[in-house]
Amino acid sequence: MPETSTSGLHAAVIMDGNGRWAQRRGLPRVAGHRAGAETLRRVVEAAPSQGIAALTVYAFSSDNWQRPKDEVDALMKLFLRFLRREQRRCVENGVRVSVIGRRDRLPGLVAGAIAACEAATAEGGRLHLRLAVDYSSRDQILDAARRLERPATRDELAQSLGLPDVDLLIRTGGEQRLSDFLLWECAYAELIFTPRMWPDFTAADLENAVAEFYSRERRFGAVPAVVSSMG
Ligand code: IPE
Ligand code: IPE
Ligand code: MG
Repeated sequence: MPETSTSGLHAAVIMDGNGRWAQRRGLPRVAGHRAGAETLRRVVEAAPSQGIAALTVYAFSSDNWQRPKDEVDALMKLFLRFLRREQRRCVENGVRVSVIGRRDRLPGLVAGAIAACEAATAEGGRLHLRLAVDYSSRDQILDAARRLERPATRDELAQSLGLPDVDLLIRTGGEQRLSDFLLWECAYAELIFTPRMWPDFTAADLENAVAEFYSRERRFGAVPAVVSSMG
């Protein structure tokens, strides 16, 4: 069984494919984002029973500001609605919500809802849900380095970044790239790419991904356990 870096798994998800899911149905892209928000709700519900203690999801990248204004505005409205609607459910289910990424470019209402949701859910101990919004891993690494006054050790930089290493990274939507997500934290993550579009992703898909994770041998650069015990 692979070792995990926390008391439970740290899973990360690049929630991709909303736009194509909608377009294939003749719907506007925003309909895909709406369906994607529902998927996130279901996945958050299913995660603790899969041994996931922390779930970091990519909701909006710093590069996503380049999208048409209508789509960006619709996404911001959806974040607002998600944060307001899910807050109570998260408190009831012991889900602590944090948001990672820049906040200074978000609409004031979104930034306010983030602060309220983080404060209300701070005691949640069953699952730590991190939403990456206006997130760029390269920017986060730069900021973490700048906070250190002198050239840092690996551990100091990791601490300044503040996130645990990722055990399992899932990307839906068929693309096989990281798109500037958790570059440092995924150094030894097991990567799972699925063609399933995010709105179609189910609790069973999550279960399969976790099973796939446990079927892999994590070696972290060493030789397989059986070889090393044979000398
Ligand atoms: C992911 O779905 C959600 C965001 C990036 C906000 P996309 O909107 O990227 O969907 P595709 O990749 O165009 O299908
Ligand atoms: C990554 O998806 C960002 C999110 C899922 C939020 P993109 O759709 O923006 O990534 P690229 O452009 O295909 O690399
Ligand atoms: Mg995409």
